[in-house]
Amino acid sequence: MPRIMKSAAVVLTLLALIPVLMLVKARVTDSGRPRLSLVYDMDDQAKVKTQRAGALFADGRAMRPPPTGTVARDELVGQDRRRDGRVDTLWVETFPAPVTAATLERGRERYGVYCAPCHGLAGNGDGIVAKRAEALMEGTWVPPSNLVDAAIRARPVGHLYNTIRFGIRKMPAYGSQIGVDDRWAIVAYVRALQAAQAGSPSDLPPADLAALGPPPAPAAATTTATTTGTTGTTQQ
Ligand code: HEC
Repeated sequence: MPRIMKSAAVVLTLLALIPVLMLVKARVTDSGRPRLSLVYDMDDQAKVKTQRAGALFADGRAMRPPPTGTVARDELVGQDRRRDGRVDTLWVETFPAPVTAATLERGRERYGVYCAPCHGLAGNGDGIVAKRAEALMEGTWVPPSNLVDAAIRARPVGHLYNTIRFGIRKMPAYGSQIGVDDRWAIVAYVRALQAAQAGSPSDLPPADLAALGPPPAPAAATTTATTTGTTGTTQQ
């Protein structure tokens, strides 16, 4: 091989190394310039980064200090029966605020949004999601509880509140979607559903009972039983 060709081969080999070395250098060194990018997508956006200076706010800080008085969720301290539904390990047995017709109406509306899909409009555990899950027969579905069952009727209101806030067993938590007052309103409405289906005349204050008039005659009792059955079905 002529000498000139040997030299050319060496030079070409060395030249061919240059792009490779440039790539290696680009990978191991920092550069203030944005990366070479043929399709930009959202690689390089105008944004402020945490813990850096930023020109957007007058104080030059990219991050905003929290407003005075802000308490992070995991920094909540002390006890609050309204917020927690319990005091120490004891569930709250009474509502933290008076239950009015407006509370019940709000509870009815929120219940329809958040609970009825699984528990059904009347609370019997036969909501549209439950029906669909049963129809799919995947074998993994845990049916929603019947909220009128004696066991759930016996739960203190604080327990029901806690169930909405944190979920229970297979039921997911709704605390991030339903605020404190709305949780209590839903609990009140669940109590109303229970009273409507499993209440007894003795639950009423004497004045209200008197206002209802005398109980139906025994002959009408059979009819009442049938009607109750039908109403139960229609409500679901
Ligand atoms: C995604 C379906 C679903 C939704 C929505 C849902 N639940 Fe449930 N709920 C369940 C299931 C399932 C159970 C039974 C869980 C188990 O036994 O593992 C249950 C159980 C319960 C119980 C019984 C807990 C106990 O003490 O044994 C209560 C009370 C309850 N839910 C209330 C509510 C309320 C109030 C809402 C609306 C804020 C709601 N649920 C929304 C699925 C749901």
